[in-house]
Amino acid sequence: MRNRVLELLREKKSSFLSGEKMARMLSVSRTAIWKNIQSLQTDGYIIESSPRRGYRLVKIPNMLFPAEIIEQFPVPTKIIASIPEKIYHYRQIESTNNTLKNLASEGASEGTVLIAEEQTQGRGRLGRSWSAPYGKGVYLSILLRPPLEPRQASLFTLLAAAAVTKSVLSILPGLNIGIKWPNDILIDNRKVCGILTELKAEADLLHYIIIGIGINVNFRKKDFPPELTKTATSLFLANNNREIARPKLAGKLLWEMDRLYRDYLAGGPQVVLTVWKEYNLTLGKQVTLKTVSDSFVGLAVDLASDGALVIEDEKGNKKRFHAGEVTLRNWAGEPDQPIP
Ligand code: BTN
Repeated sequence: MRNRVLELLREKKSSFLSGEKMARMLSVSRTAIWKNIQSLQTDGYIIESSPRRGYRLVKIPNMLFPAEIIEQFPVPTKIIASIPEKIYHYRQIESTNNTLKNLASEGASEGTVLIAEEQTQGRGRLGRSWSAPYGKGVYLSILLRPPLEPRQASLFTLLAAAAVTKSVLSILPGLNIGIKWPNDILIDNRKVCGILTELKAEADLLHYIIIGIGINVNFRKKDFPPELTKTATSLFLANNNREIARPKLAGKLLWEMDRLYRDYLAGGPQVVLTVWKEYNLTLGKQVTLKTVSDSFVGLAVDLASDGALVIEDEKGNKKRFHAGEVTLRNWAGEPDQPIP
């Protein structure tokens, strides 16, 4: 009902709509309309009310409300966030990945999205923490249930990285942004987004995948923990200290994710790899790849069809890696700073 009231106000643009007319259009009482207007106002929507003319939407809040996110879709999505009820919005949460995992175990449907204004225990890869202050970023998790074997799951990290990059470029075209394999999104060699993909599976059956995405959107320098000030950045900083509308970015991202995921279901891994390669910062570079037990130096030559990185050493031996930390080596052959 709240969303329907909001829709009517939006359709009217900046002119007034009477409570009586809204009540008739939605077949509810005027009191019900008034209650929903109040609930919108409590959430930060500025709605002017005039006793004779009715209500007028003046300003929407800069919050990641499902209705604002969906408003950004040029056409409705089909799987991811395909209805507003598939988006769960929290002001504060420990970690969107953790809560979505619980929902997934309880049977939540594919395409469910959980989004938060703040995470108190955001998690990064390799057991690291992920800083997620209130109202500054886009922190969300997406539930997918693709008909796959677990070993193919890493492709979805690449899919998400490509969708994030595409959506950022649609808002800030010309930005020097790209993807370091497998899933670090860098602007001018500083990290602006991280992706944490987690899954539940049996030996050869994938139950679900959770793709957690954290984008540093309107972070000022002071918003980063001290240890990250040299290696991390935000869209705000990259955009000459101008704010980015977070609902717009979240909407574009979910829309790109939905499109790429459906293209993948129809066309297979090659579709994802082709888009990922458009934004690649790793292939064709000398890299050092560190795994838990080993380190390998060579030229990053290709991606395998499951998203593994193929590295060729100086003797021409090729090796595939499904996981690891890549350090890009600069022109002098010296490793650059690893990005945490
Ligand atoms: C990385 O280490 O690069 C991955 C960071 C992933 C952070 C996101 S924010 C939303 C989701 N919830 C979490 O707790 N982590 C991911």
